[in-house]
Amino acid sequence: DEYDLLVVGSANADLVIGVERRPAAGETVLGSDLAVHPGGKGANQAVAAARLGARTALLARVGDDAHGRLLLDAQRAAGVDPVGVLVGGAPTGVALITVDPSGDNSIVVSPGANGRLTPEDVRAAAGLFQASRVVSAQLEVPLETVVEAVRHLAPGSRFVLNPSPPRPLPRELLEACDPLIVNEHEAKVILAGADGSGADVGEDPQGWARALLALGPRSVVVTLGAEGALVAWPERVVRVPSVTVDAVDTTGAGDAFTAALACRLGAGASLQEAARYAARVGAVAVTRHGAQESYPTAAEVDAL
Ligand code: RIB
Ligand code: NA
Repeated sequence: DEYDLLVVGSANADLVIGVERRPAAGETVLGSDLAVHPGGKGANQAVAAARLGARTALLARVGDDAHGRLLLDAQRAAGVDPVGVLVGGAPTGVALITVDPSGDNSIVVSPGANGRLTPEDVRAAAGLFQASRVVSAQLEVPLETVVEAVRHLAPGSRFVLNPSPPRPLPRELLEACDPLIVNEHEAKVILAGADGSGADVGEDPQGWARALLALGPRSVVVTLGAEGALVAWPERVVRVPSVTVDAVDTTGAGDAFTAALACRLGAGASLQEAARYAARVGAVAVTRHGAQESYPTAAEVDAL
């Protein structure tokens, strides 16, 4: 294979302001100076993978504007092959991000060009899929584009999905996931929407993992913050511990986790091993500001 990982997804300019607390409706608060970082869940995954040493490509769409050039420069600097980054059609996606003193963030995304990444763009990139061992995706691009992606997986390749931001998913997409990677919120949205009932899905993460598996994925990873993660297959569930660090900015840590897990799977690791490694990568990422700038090299992960 030419690529260890092909990421299908979004690229955003992250406009970040630090705040003491978030404003309520109708309120104004003063924050820090503005920082502009390359971000977006797809672009983040691609940079995280390349920093870890994986041969990586990104299928995405940016605008023909300064934010788009910022994103392309960041992909190239990290060593991502930008051959699949399409330009034009709408302004580059933007994420308005506030980060509070605990390192937690709130994000509003304007999809812009991400919303114009179409199933036709996926079909035109069929060669990239055939050359890739693992394909990963998120949900900041149209759902039909992600569904089209799983129709082009090479024989023997693997598909990893972080359904963020979450919504109910079609069975065809769920059945392709190995694993589906969710946090608590994503698990609940997908489960509540599965039968259209919006029913309460309870508070037991093992129960979420089993219920998600019943929807079709071959494996599921439920991330639980300080509680680590659950790795689940139809026959068993195991817990992977978290790595304790002082968080300054959690933005994009989940993207680093997904990318690291996908890379380790591509290198032949078991899902459990891959999740352990991914937890360490995510831990390094939260100790540094920004998303892409916070991602470690393999040597930095080994040093943790
Ligand atoms: O997951 C973090 C990312 O979410 C940010 O980089 C921002 O662009 C939003 O897409
Ligand atoms: Na970070």
